[in-house]
Amino acid sequence: MAETTNTPVTVLGLGAMGQALAAALLKGGHPTTVWNRTPGKDADLVAAGAIGAASVAEAVQAGGPIIVVLFDHASVHATLDPAVGDLSGRQVINLTSTTPNEARELATWAAAHGIDYLDGGIMAVPSMIGQPGASILYSGSRIIYDQHLEAFELLAAAEYFGDDAGLASTYDFALLANMYTMFTGFLHGAAMMRSVGVTASAFAERAVPWVTAMAQMLPAYGQIIDSGDYTTPIQSLAFHKAALDAINRATRDAGVTVDFVAPIKNLIDRQVADGNGTLEFARTIEELT
Ligand SMILES: NC(=O)c1ccc[n+]([C@@H]2O[C@H](COP(=O)([O-])OP(=O)(O)OC[C@H]3O[C@@H](n4cnc5c(N)ncnc54)[C@H](OP(=O)(O)O)[C@@H]3O)[C@@H](O)[C@H]2O)c1
Repeated sequence: MAETTNTPVTVLGLGAMGQALAAALLKGGHPTTVWNRTPGKDADLVAAGAIGAASVAEAVQAGGPIIVVLFDHASVHATLDPAVGDLSGRQVINLTSTTPNEARELATWAAAHGIDYLDGGIMAVPSMIGQPGASILYSGSRIIYDQHLEAFELLAAAEYFGDDAGLASTYDFALLANMYTMFTGFLHGAAMMRSVGVTASAFAERAVPWVTAMAQMLPAYGQIIDSGDYTTPIQSLAFHKAALDAINRATRDAGVTVDFVAPIKNLIDRQVADGNGTLEFARTIEELT
């Protein structure tokens, strides 16, 4: 049965993200019960109409789905294990960042205790919750997803990937890996620019359009990788070797450590040494698995 805004929701965990999620649910009209390990973090939410619970057991008595947004996999077990008797027959949505295998372990644990389990990966920072641009990726129980989609869409754009509870987390961590290497590339460039007196803020203004333009190449790389044919390069590994060698020298000359460029330079060097220099750069993926 699809829910209404009257469906009660419980949020376990009132860190920055849990507070943002609970606030969005309240704003959307859901009676919202909240709990946090350290008392006192519910003050603003209670003032806005949330029900503050003194224990996990009390929090889940409100009925409705239970959204868990804690620090990590261990904190999810530390919180849910003692309340397992109260959770049997209930719906748990775990939006804590967990690895795919940790999400699968939680799904198996939940099934063993008669708990319906949906995992999710939040692709947003707290200030983005309830705003355009935020998304949450889900996998696991389709029943929970379909039944509470209206509530999920109060939080962020929602997308469901399948019944393997680890799928959403795989997307989440793959996207985060992409994000971190993009951020570290920016830090590396900013360190080089600092050597000639250019501020990181000024560099950021140039980096944004450049990174945005280069991101447009990703679909072409995707097609080449999926074809498995690297013989018609957009740009060859030998071309990129020359570029990375020069970037390496420029980095050292600027007094900057090569820690961030070394991994990709090593991968390219290895392929060129193996006789693959004429092949497409995207072949580098074959060195990763
Ligand atoms: N913040 C973001 O930008 C962002 C973005 C995407 C995903 N996420 C994910 O959302 C989750 C929560 O993030 P957050 O920003 O809210 O983190 P946070 O502000 O550091 O809050 C962590 C929460 O976990 C609780 N906690 C930690 N260890 C616990 C334990 N052993 N038992 C019970 N509760 C425990 C904390 O309770 P206490 O108050 O008692 O310490 C607090 O409620 C994380 O998995 C994070 O990766 C966050």
